[in-house]
Amino acid sequence: MHPKRRPILAGNWKMNMTATQTRDLASKLVPLVANVKDRDIVLGPPFTSIAAAADVIRGTNIGLAAQNLHWEDKGAFTGEISADMLLDSGCKYVIIGHSERRQYFGETDETVNKKVKQALKKGLLPIMCVGETLAEREAGKLNEVIGRQVTGGLKDVSADDMKKVVIAYEPVWAIGTGKTATPEQANEVHALIRGKVRSLYTADIAEGIRIQYGGSVTPENVSQLMAKPDIDGALVGGASLKPDSFAALVNFK
Ligand code: PGA
Repeated sequence: MHPKRRPILAGNWKMNMTATQTRDLASKLVPLVANVKDRDIVLGPPFTSIAAAADVIRGTNIGLAAQNLHWEDKGAFTGEISADMLLDSGCKYVIIGHSERRQYFGETDETVNKKVKQALKKGLLPIMCVGETLAEREAGKLNEVIGRQVTGGLKDVSADDMKKVVIAYEPVWAIGTGKTATPEQANEVHALIRGKVRSLYTADIAEGIRIQYGGSVTPENVSQLMAKPDIDGALVGGASLKPDSFAALVNFK
């Protein structure tokens, strides 16, 4: 954590939670985090549950993220969702380029970049995910992979827009596996990402942007992670699906 950067704790629900379940979870969560003022709290329901979540969290300190968007404004793109639809449903953020989307749905740095630019053009705040696989890490390709994902994802993003981007570092080997990167391992890559942003933009922009860690974050390990100087938040899957555990995580000391 860094005194100048506001922590951001986001839940990525993935393909979980019907609208009914969403209402229940969100209603339980609201009072548990109502006193939090010094950090951003974000929920990322699936598309069909966004409206239900928006209903429950209206007027609270919780924001909403979608898990994807299309890069075009509108038109003949069956099955896709536009930025305007997300904004109109109450989203402020959008998660882009999650490793599951890259792995299973063919997303590339190029599509990630188109989506990041579309989100920014429309006024959604992108949470752009990057991260290496275990094979890439073991082959000594960590710097190369992260460098390529950061540079590719941010291509032609202006300095002003860059200030609004959140980057999530999610080592693929730590997602849903119970294997968290150690706080040292995570911080090292966060510093690498910040350095990359510094080289692409300015030192001020690099110091200002927030970088979340994601991959098996729990109420038990969040404090050690957040104690590191370059870790500014968490993107949380499994532990965000229960109001108590997500609230405990948000309320980390
Ligand atoms: P996990 O997922 O917390 O269940 O590991 C994190 C993510 O994929 O965003």
